[in-house]
Amino acid sequence: MKTLFIGDIVGRKARNFAIEKIKEFKKSNLFDLIIVNVENSAGGFGVTPEICDNFISNGADVLTSGNHIWDKKEIIPYINNTNKLLRPMNMVEGTPGIGITIINTIFGKIGVANIMTNLFMPKSKPVFDILNQIKLKFSSNKHLCFTLVDVHGEATSEKLAIGHLLDGYVSAVVGTHTHIPTSDHRVLKNGTAYITDVGMSGDYNSVIGMEKQAAISRFQYPNNKQPRLSVADGPPTLCGVIIKSKKNGLAETIKPIRIGGIIENVGI
Ligand SMILES: [Fe+2]
Ligand SMILES: [Fe+2]
Repeated sequence: MKTLFIGDIVGRKARNFAIEKIKEFKKSNLFDLIIVNVENSAGGFGVTPEICDNFISNGADVLTSGNHIWDKKEIIPYINNTNKLLRPMNMVEGTPGIGITIINTIFGKIGVANIMTNLFMPKSKPVFDILNQIKLKFSSNKHLCFTLVDVHGEATSEKLAIGHLLDGYVSAVVGTHTHIPTSDHRVLKNGTAYITDVGMSGDYNSVIGMEKQAAISRFQYPNNKQPRLSVADGPPTLCGVIIKSKKNGLAETIKPIRIGGIIENVGI
């Protein structure tokens, strides 16, 4: 199977660019499965029901998220009624939505989980305590042909530790949240494809997708919240990874894909 995972979509330009690309990929049958992290797709903060529907109707199979999932309140009723938009699994009891899903595709059943790390991140339940739940849920569904865990987090060490703990249990562990792509993509010893962060899909002439003057000023003058952060408006780069997996659900290859914008293009 050939799966495309696209990293954090930041704002409208990146969103429209990603949707155009997804349409093209669908038309030319390039991928069997497309998963997109949409946590910053609505003006840089959160996601709306309309945006989710737009991604899904144009060919995305599952959407993942992270700490920004609740920035647009209208997502709450929507997330309660779908199994295609995930929020991190390790949020407190009673949180709307789900963090792990199994869906049917024409290739068979696939599983996707979304978790959030603990270091330098908003408070959530201990991430290392829920890894067994993922293994159990995916292994109790014997016929899953592909499984992926989106590890949403800041610390590279924590994400890599999770990658090693899940190695051999899932097809892929892909990092999101930092908005900067790493070049450590590889298949781990026991057959799981891994990357610490796929990078954002957005304008890289920015500070992680935000207009750079305002973002720089936040660091220089931490007590001054003006000017407000806004999405950088330059040409976006779509960043993701392409994972080829075998019949037994383990990975064969993982390769980065970067299209458009100002950073070096790789992939297709
Ligand atoms: Fe995030
Ligand atoms: Fe993000």
